[in-house]
Amino acid sequence: MSNWIEVGKVTDIPKLGARVVETSRGDIGIFRTADDEIFALRDKCPHKNGPLSQGIVHGKRVTCPLHSWKIELESGEAVAPDVGCAARYETKIENGIIFLTL
Ligand code: FES
Repeated sequence: MSNWIEVGKVTDIPKLGARVVETSRGDIGIFRTADDEIFALRDKCPHKNGPLSQGIVHGKRVTCPLHSWKIELESGEAVAPDVGCAARYETKIENGIIFLTL
């Protein structure tokens, strides 16, 4: 059974933005797309640990603020030609509240 952690309201995160949640697994970036989908990735770029939460969200990707790798929010995978993967976590939304499970 999953343990869901409440991490705040969808509306607390700007569209195409992110916020950081501190967890026992380290900092996790919670991303909101233009369509109000929510994704959670470890807040470290698979390249050189750039803070993905400070990147720019576009579509279902975020561009790392350090060297502009593009990371798929659904999988955590870097977009080719770059190779790497940021850990991804499940989220759900209930009544506008985001829950995260590690
Ligand atoms: S640390 Fe993210 S692209 Fe280099």
